[in-house]
Amino acid sequence: SKPELFLRKPKNRPGRDNYFRYVNVDAGWVDRRIFWDEAIYERELEAIFARCWQFVAHDSQLPNIGDFVTTYIGEDGVIVSRHTDGKAYVYLNACTHRGNKICFADEGNARRFTCNYHGWAFSTAGELLGLPSENAYDPGDIDRTQWGPRRARVETYKGMIFATFDPDAPGLEEYLGDYRWYLDAFLDNDEGGIEFLPGTIKSYANANWKFGVENFIGDAYHAWWTHDAGGRAMMGGPFPAYDPKDTYHASVNGHGWEFALEGFGDIAILGSQEVTDYYAALKPKIAARLGELRARLFGSLASAAMFPNMTFLPGIHTFRMWLPRGPRKLELRIWTVVNKNAPESVKQAINIGCNMTFNPAGTLEMDDGENWEGNTRTNRGWVSRHEKLHYGCGKSRQIEHPELPGIVHEGQFNDANQRLFYQRWADLMNAKSWSDVPQRYAPRYAGRPTR
Ligand code: FES
Ligand code: FE
Repeated sequence: SKPELFLRKPKNRPGRDNYFRYVNVDAGWVDRRIFWDEAIYERELEAIFARCWQFVAHDSQLPNIGDFVTTYIGEDGVIVSRHTDGKAYVYLNACTHRGNKICFADEGNARRFTCNYHGWAFSTAGELLGLPSENAYDPGDIDRTQWGPRRARVETYKGMIFATFDPDAPGLEEYLGDYRWYLDAFLDNDEGGIEFLPGTIKSYANANWKFGVENFIGDAYHAWWTHDAGGRAMMGGPFPAYDPKDTYHASVNGHGWEFALEGFGDIAILGSQEVTDYYAALKPKIAARLGELRARLFGSLASAAMFPNMTFLPGIHTFRMWLPRGPRKLELRIWTVVNKNAPESVKQAINIGCNMTFNPAGTLEMDDGENWEGNTRTNRGWVSRHEKLHYGCGKSRQIEHPELPGIVHEGQFNDANQRLFYQRWADLMNAKSWSDVPQRYAPRYAGRPTR
């Protein structure tokens, strides 16, 4: 039968490092080698991507039995498929015979998946169904029940399907923790929840995956500068001058959301009066559903990321996964997300505005990729690579907020969410297993729903 998952095996592997040599949260710096070094990247694949819950699909992408998408958990290809029992299963997209990729399509509908090399067939739950010329195998040669591709654990939150290969990972609800309070503003601001519009856009950048994530987790600072021209084109004028009042960074378990408490900044960037009117009419209902505070924060200039690599702009409605392809390359997959019950014309206006700004040819997205490639490429220099990067903005701005959960800092121009992202990164990189990962925040909503 199959060997135990490698994660359970060697307790003290060679080359273990103290990753807080690379991340200093109190002083506010990060060592540049974490964006370049192959050995650090290999450890990330094991300690971050093979451990953490990661988004793999939304229910709306798999409405029917047999629907599937293929994606990645770290660099492990996976199939996500709706089985005949109605559940989504996630398993390695790698044949257990000689290892060929099982399914080469990005999405579709299938009754089974048949490997191209010798024809082994697998069910939509990841079971080995059959092999050609079965009379070549004597009794005892193979126990079919043991030779399906490895399955991941699967859990969902409000239609979002997450998976992890780590049997010891905490449940999804605990992994998300109080971040659910923020996620609800995006996933559950209207009855019916969200849906993913059809179409996945893929692009590639010669950049470390963390630069994409840390930008969305809290880098409002760059928008005013990098996106000045694009912002003027979309909004008809410059961004309003930065005002820290009523703006925040909030972080939970390395997940982050930065936001203002007023305005329709992100929704205005979509450039559709119909969409703005739709949300203006929805705001009182959001307040009734989620409370006054979450109604105020939704739609403002904001961005968010869930550790390790899922990000979204709640007002602009773009949702994106940063898939690592080595320390110096990433694959970006993006979708437009809308409220399922929104009028069709609102959905289409959002899709157009979203793609005019945040797709590879969009007015705002093009600005970013070049910067992140630059951040990564300069590390070719041996001296440059051994320098540190400054993450010290807003170190003394931590507050206790009566309603906002998480570790909260005042001021939208801040490195707080980034510092706490890299703290979580180092905690996981150091940990031998989940039981070693420190709890750095006592949740307010432990064991109870956030709506
Ligand atoms: Fe898949 Fe042989 S490699 S059937
Ligand atoms: Fe940007």
